[in-house]
Amino acid sequence: MSVPPIVPDANKATKAPTMKTDSPKGDNHPKSQTSRRVEPSAHFRAKARIKSHDEYLRLYNESLESPETFWKSQTRDLVFRTPSRKFLEWDSPHAKFFVGATLNITESCLDRHLATEARNRAAIVWEGEPGDVRTLTYLELHHEVVKLTAALADLGVAAGDRVAIYMGMVPEAAIAMLACARLGAPHSVIFGGFSADALRDRINDCEAKVLITQDGAYRRGAIVPLKKMADAALLETPSVQHAVVLSRIGRSGSEVSPAEMKPGRDIWWHELLSREPSLANKEMADAPNAFDAEHPLFILYTSGSTGKPKGVLHTTAGYLAGVHVSTNAVFDIRDSDLYWCTADVGWVTGHSYIVYGPMSVGASCMMYEGAPNFPDPGRFWQIIERHGVTILYTAPTAIRAFIRWGDEFPKRHNLGSLRLLGSVGEPINPEVWQWYHRVIGASQCPVVDTWWQTETGSIMLTTLPAASGSKPGSTGLPMFGVEPDVVDADGRSVKAGEGGRLIIKHPWPSMARTLWGDDERFRQTYFNVVPNVYFTGDGAKRDEDGYYWVTGRIDDVLNIAGHRIGTAEVESAFVSHPAIAEAAAVGRPDELKGSALVVFVTLKQGAAPSGQLRDELKAHIEKEIGKFARPDEIRFAEGLPKTRSGKIMRRLLKEIAAGATAMKGDTSTLEDFSVVAQLQAAQEP
Ligand code: PRX
Repeated sequence: MSVPPIVPDANKATKAPTMKTDSPKGDNHPKSQTSRRVEPSAHFRAKARIKSHDEYLRLYNESLESPETFWKSQTRDLVFRTPSRKFLEWDSPHAKFFVGATLNITESCLDRHLATEARNRAAIVWEGEPGDVRTLTYLELHHEVVKLTAALADLGVAAGDRVAIYMGMVPEAAIAMLACARLGAPHSVIFGGFSADALRDRINDCEAKVLITQDGAYRRGAIVPLKKMADAALLETPSVQHAVVLSRIGRSGSEVSPAEMKPGRDIWWHELLSREPSLANKEMADAPNAFDAEHPLFILYTSGSTGKPKGVLHTTAGYLAGVHVSTNAVFDIRDSDLYWCTADVGWVTGHSYIVYGPMSVGASCMMYEGAPNFPDPGRFWQIIERHGVTILYTAPTAIRAFIRWGDEFPKRHNLGSLRLLGSVGEPINPEVWQWYHRVIGASQCPVVDTWWQTETGSIMLTTLPAASGSKPGSTGLPMFGVEPDVVDADGRSVKAGEGGRLIIKHPWPSMARTLWGDDERFRQTYFNVVPNVYFTGDGAKRDEDGYYWVTGRIDDVLNIAGHRIGTAEVESAFVSHPAIAEAAAVGRPDELKGSALVVFVTLKQGAAPSGQLRDELKAHIEKEIGKFARPDEIRFAEGLPKTRSGKIMRRLLKEIAAGATAMKGDTSTLEDFSVVAQLQAAQEP
C-alpha cells in the first residue's frame, strides 16, 4: 500500500497557488490526485506514538472487534471513581457508554495533573489581542476552577442546572466551562459572534439559570460589547437569575466605561470570587462530586434544516474518552509541545480540542483572543515564533486568507518550532493543503485533515500523522471505533470512487445523545436516512485505498467560512423583515470562504428593491443571527423557481448564484421558467 512521497517543488515555494473551490458533487478529485500520498518524515515517525499503518490497523481492528479492551486500555490515564459495568447499551438512537461508571470530568483534566510534573506546566498560554500575555499552570488553573465552582454553587447553581457562557477568547471561558463541569451543571457556550437575539433564544431554549459573560472582547482593534448584547438578551430570559461579568476591558486600562451592572442580578467575576464561599460549597469544590457516565456535560447549539437551532447534548464519560483518545492519537502531544487550536471556544472544536481533549492529556495550550490580521496579517506567525508553538490546528478558511495576504508574512517569522499541522471545519482544497504544508510547515510537518461535527464530539476521519500518508484534500481514514460508509439514497454501500451519503454504522462513545428538549428531531435528523444508522448530512466518496473524500453538506446546511449556517435559519430571519415575502439561501463557491452566502428574496407589495433595502437587510440578519451570517449577496427577484409541489428549487438557485448561464440538469419540474431569467439578471446594484 505504500506510495512514494511527493517531493515538493522548491521552485514553487514562493508562489501562491490559484485556489479552486471544490464542487459539492464529489467528482472533483481526479484519479491522479486520489492516489498521491505525502508520507511523514522518518524523523517524525520515529518519535510518534503510532508509528506505522500496520500499528494503526491493529488498533483500529481491536477498537471494532474488542471495543471494551480497546477503550479500557486507551483511557487508563483517566480518573473514574466507579468503573463501568458494561461498555455500551444501544437502544437506537440512544446510546449509553461506560454504563455504571461515575466520574468528575475535571479530575481527569485538572486534579490528576497536580500529582505529576504537569502541576507546574503551562495549561494555558494566552495572548490578548492588544499583546498582553498570561500563563496559567495546571496548578493555577485548578485553583481558579475550584474557586469559581464554589462561587457558582453559592449563587445557587446546582448539578443539572444549565449555565450559559457568552465570552470571547479569554482563559476565563475555559475556567467557566470547567467550573460548570466540576459542579455537574451543563454549560451552553454561545459563540461571542452571535447577536443578542440569538443569545436570548439559546438561553431560553436551555433555560439557563446563570449567564457568564464579560464586559467586552477585543477584536480587530475594536471592542465587541458582549455585556451590552447580553443586557439586551436578558430583557427576555426569565430563567436567568444572575449574570457573572468578567472585567476584561476594564482590566487592560482602556478608557471604555465599565459595563452597567443591574443590582441584584449582575455581579463582577472578581467580586464574586473575592467573597468567602460557604464551607459546604468550598468542600464540594475541593473534593467534587462524581456523576454518572451519562450525566449531561454540555449543550451546544448548531444549525440544522429548520429555523430553530439544535441543542446538541453531550454527556460525560463517552465524550471524555473520545476527545482524550483522539487528542493522543491525532495530535500526538508530548510534554514539550505547545499546542494551538485557533478555533473559538464557542464552537465544538473549542470544546473538544482547546479544553477537554488537550487538558485530559495535560497539554500546554496556546490561546489567542483576537483576529488573525491584527495589527497585520502576520499575527499568527508572530505568536508561533514568540511562544514557540509546535502544533497548529486551524481551518481552511483561515489558510486561504493567509494565502491571499501573501507569503511574505509567514516568511518574516521563524516557524521552525512547528512539527505538526492540522485542518478542520470544511474541505481543504488540495492546493491549499500543499501551501499549508510547504509554506507554514516547510515541507517537514505532517498535515492532519480532521473531519468531524458538533454531533460526533470528536474526530471521526483523519490520517494519524505518523501512521498513514496523507492525501491532500482527503480526510483520510476512520478513527478508532468509527465505522463509516458511503451509501446511496436507498442506504446501499456504493462502490469505491462513487459519491454518496456519509454515514456512521455503529454508535461511538463521543456521539451526541439527543437534542435538548427535542428527542424526536434527534431521531428524525440523524437516524432516518438508513434506519438506526447515523447520517452525517455530508456527501463523500471512499477511494480504492479506503481514504474518505468529504465533499460538503448535502442537506439544508451551509458551511460558510467554516461556520455552520442553516438555510432555514437565514430564510426565517429574512422573512421576519417587513419588506420580505419569501427568501431562499444558497451557497456559492468562494475562493476565500469555501462558500459565500447568497440569498434570493421576493418583496411584499409596496416594497421596492434598492441598495438601501439591501443594506437594511444585511443589518437585519446581523441583528437576528450575528455578523458571521451576514449575506455576501442579496438578489431581488419577482418570484422563486419552484417545483409543482411548491418546493423551492435550490439546485437551480445555486447554479444561478454561481453565475451559470445555461441551466444544467433537469428543469422539467420548474413551474415558471421566466423566473430563472429574471433571477440571473437580478445582480447586485
Ligand atoms: O460538512 C462538514 C464540515 O463541517 C461540518 C460540521 O460542522 P460543525 O458541526 O460546525 O463542526 C465543525 C468542526 C468539527 C461537517 O458536517 N467539516 C468539518 N470538518 C471537515 C468538514 N468537511 C470537510 N473536511 C473536514 N475536515
